[in-house]
Amino acid sequence: MLPADDVEAHHPLEIPNLQKLVSERTGLALPIRDVSKFSQALNVRMKALHLDSGSDYLDILVRGQETPDSEWTRLVPLLTTGESYFFRDPEQFALITEVILPDLLEKRTDSHTLRIWSAGCSTGEEAFSLAIAAHELLAGDEGWHVLVLGTDINEKALERARNGLFSSWSFREASPDFRKRYFRHVGSGWQLDPAIRSMVTFRSGNLASDTYPGTDSGLFSFDLVVCRNVLIYLTADAVTRIAGKLGQSLALDGYLVTGHAELPPQDLATLRPQVLRRLVVYRRQDFTGDYASQAAAAERVVAPVIVPVGSVDPGPDDSPVAPSVGETDTPTDPDQVETAYRAARSLANLGRYAEAAECCEEAIRRAPTSSEACFLLAQIVEEWRGDTEEAKRLFRRAIYLAPQSPAAYLELAALYERAGDGPHAKRNRLAALKLLEAMDQESTVSPYNEVTARQLVRECRAMVGKGDGD
Ligand SMILES: C[S@@+](CC[C@H](N)C(=O)[O-])C[C@H]1O[C@@H](n2cnc3c(N)ncnc32)[C@H](O)[C@@H]1O
Repeated sequence: MLPADDVEAHHPLEIPNLQKLVSERTGLALPIRDVSKFSQALNVRMKALHLDSGSDYLDILVRGQETPDSEWTRLVPLLTTGESYFFRDPEQFALITEVILPDLLEKRTDSHTLRIWSAGCSTGEEAFSLAIAAHELLAGDEGWHVLVLGTDINEKALERARNGLFSSWSFREASPDFRKRYFRHVGSGWQLDPAIRSMVTFRSGNLASDTYPGTDSGLFSFDLVVCRNVLIYLTADAVTRIAGKLGQSLALDGYLVTGHAELPPQDLATLRPQVLRRLVVYRRQDFTGDYASQAAAAERVVAPVIVPVGSVDPGPDDSPVAPSVGETDTPTDPDQVETAYRAARSLANLGRYAEAAECCEEAIRRAPTSSEACFLLAQIVEEWRGDTEEAKRLFRRAIYLAPQSPAAYLELAALYERAGDGPHAKRNRLAALKLLEAMDQESTVSPYNEVTARQLVRECRAMVGKGDGD
């Protein structure tokens, strides 16, 4: 059997063949220059199968299909990034809930059906966010049939999606109200309301395959296809092919929403870009609807239907931690600090925690007084390494650096709560509450997108057992 990390050393000739095969079948970009992740994955799988020959493993893959019990389903999770969270990209979600879905609901009043596809849905947060958005817009109108389909090549991710149980990290851009409305605390996670779960079907599906569009696969005539943060991991050829097929899977007046800049203009054979609220969405090339009036209508819509917001559980602790001696002498270039911090946020949102942590550390090296970078690093350390002690230390340091900011107190409170330490949790939550009550109640609380002080005051009061009038 091969020791870890040795496929590359023992089977240099197989690596390019394996890479080629995996890339052809899945569309995944596996750059020849960056073989380490790929060869680590091969090591894991070959060890599990007691294989010591790269060509034997190649044979297994060549003969296998991407079906639920094949070797592909074990290899693919090791090569893909499944990071996802509810109402990811609030601006894009606001466009979907305030413009796209209302437009579709108006156009589908005859059939009373709505077909939505979350393509590359990972653990289900995107598909469920879409289901919740449709549910809220329909406000209990039972005459409608809403199909929300989530597909992904990663069968393990789909299993988690079907369970409907999520960790608090999945709520980092969702409002506390939202979580309270649709989820129940179960163990260390949050269980989604069965009514919403029943709106969504999850199925295994490889976007690089030829099984769509088509009535056999059920992948056709979608009113809305959302394929975000998937194409960035694929080869240029795969993106071109998939973009064409996603376009053909749309109803004539349907919408395709991808991640920002995920579709290069040359890949738009069957698609036409449309700008709505300064964001690009795609329509079918043969759709000749009135784009101009839709765009104008989009600009008129202002009221949010769903309030997407920042993370929810956070909180602080005992004595604040000062930066170590010498750190504060480093000269600060605000632009470089901001760049490193923004990169860290983006990488964390993509699930690339090791790189995100490095960027945070870079931001802290350049600006040891950056409470935002400490705060983010604490979240990453907790989520990625499960290192709650280091996370607590970093949150305390964030408090030292920004004593008027309630967020780190809230994060610490949540950490203590999860550890079953009620008194510390309460102490930190009370500290946060005091700061929140002193704020303008309509102002948002950094770094939680769009969560107002009022919302957090209400939540804190409920959690520490203080009524509104106390
Ligand atoms: C970063 S997640 C994005 C999840 C969700 N769309 C979002 O934006 O939150 C990327 C997902 O794409 C899936 N994926 C990658 N290649 C795929 C393919 N060829 N077919 C289907 N899904 C694929 C991965 O398994 C992973 O779950």
